Amino acid sequence: MGRRNMAESGGLAGTEVAEISTCLIDGEQGRLSYAGYDIETLAEQAQFEEVCCLLLNGELPNAAQLEALRQEIAQSAVLPAEIRSLLAALPQDADPMAVLRTAVSAYGLYDEDAELPLDREAMRRVVIRLCGQVAAITAAWARIRNGQAVVAARADLTLAANFVAILFDREPDATTTSAINSYLVLLAEHGLNASTFAARVITATGSDVVSAVVGGIGTLKGPAHGGANSEAMRMFQEIGAVENVDSWFEREVKQGGRRIMGIGHRVYKAPDPRAAILQRHADALSRQLGERRWYEIATALAEKAAADEYFIQRRLFPNVDYYSAVLLASLGLASDLFTPLFAVARTIGWGVHAIAQRGGRLIRPKGRYVGPAPRPFIPLAER
Ligand code: ACO
Repeated sequence: MGRRNMAESGGLAGTEVAEISTCLIDGEQGRLSYAGYDIETLAEQAQFEEVCCLLLNGELPNAAQLEALRQEIAQSAVLPAEIRSLLAALPQDADPMAVLRTAVSAYGLYDEDAELPLDREAMRRVVIRLCGQVAAITAAWARIRNGQAVVAARADLTLAANFVAILFDREPDATTTSAINSYLVLLAEHGLNASTFAARVITATGSDVVSAVVGGIGTLKGPAHGGANSEAMRMFQEIGAVENVDSWFEREVKQGGRRIMGIGHRVYKAPDPRAAILQRHADALSRQLGERRWYEIATALAEKAAADEYFIQRRLFPNVDYYSAVLLASLGLASDLFTPLFAVARTIGWGVHAIAQRGGRLIRPKGRYVGPAPRPFIPLAER
């Protein structure tokens, strides 16, 4: 089977493991919709909470249903005192995704519904609370590690506005809130991606939804998945200036064989539709803020790749993480907070998949044995 075993080289590509109704990805055409609604329209017109309703219920909410969910999530974005103390005790230089994984796991100990893995309504309540908690933990950690006071979430705000308010301790402005809202909408759900699959595997054992979200966070952290947005930013920083793009590409990619982080996708063999939307936001925001450096480096590098035979043949295009790095940097987020913000968006996706998987059959694939033939055991003294 060559240098890698079957599961590694195949990576389960193309294997259908569940029926899903939340999202349709057309990788050949580069199209994405949530429950029948085109992602482009949702990103421009829907509040993140509207999308949460859509994913949870299969239908868009009316105004009263939306307001009820907005309130529930806003109220859930307040950290329990125990989690604040835990965060304060963690090493200041800890990776924010490792902190998030640890704190969400600890949060489960204080949620009265957490250990009811087969109760649909209890799971739903936990998922909604986790949407608020993941945002609150991410913003709180960003402040605690810098010695700043934790800011309490406001009951009157959307999650996007609250995230701006509790991260930066300021009145959320329309431009930043709208950019964060679109980002959250675009990343809320994406079928059987690696972290959602992990969440489903956990739920299929009969385990609880907090464990599923913790597993999702651990999976998202990897640079081949959600960790790519932070890595893309580090790459843009390493390039440093748009004049260096050509030489960096030749040296690192063509001669050094390095992967461009934020490019390539398991499913999209046409441009990722989310990347184009995020590119537009990043373009507008970087113009408005007068800081064009990262946008210019990113577009110049993407153009180099788009004109290169290697990338053309393999149909490699910027994915959702590529321009989100530019957008989030323009908003003033530290690059190691990009993946936690991805987790803020994806918690609802993990949650709805966990609810759908509840009570389903154990997911247990099989390996092809390539080890030694049966042989006699040799006692320790004789080895
Ligand atoms: N730069 C250069 N070459 C690449 C890149 C890249 N970013 N991505 C894939 N390739 C090449 C591979 O070397 C391989 O070439 P080969 O056929 O000559 O061996 C070919 O394209 C296919 O790549 P695979 O790794 O086999 O594709 P797979 O579907 O397993 O991986 C992945 C997809 C992990 C996203 C890959 O494209 C990658 O590593 N990209 C960079 C990391 C990244 O951006 N991840 C985020 C993905 S989106 C998300 O998870 C939210």
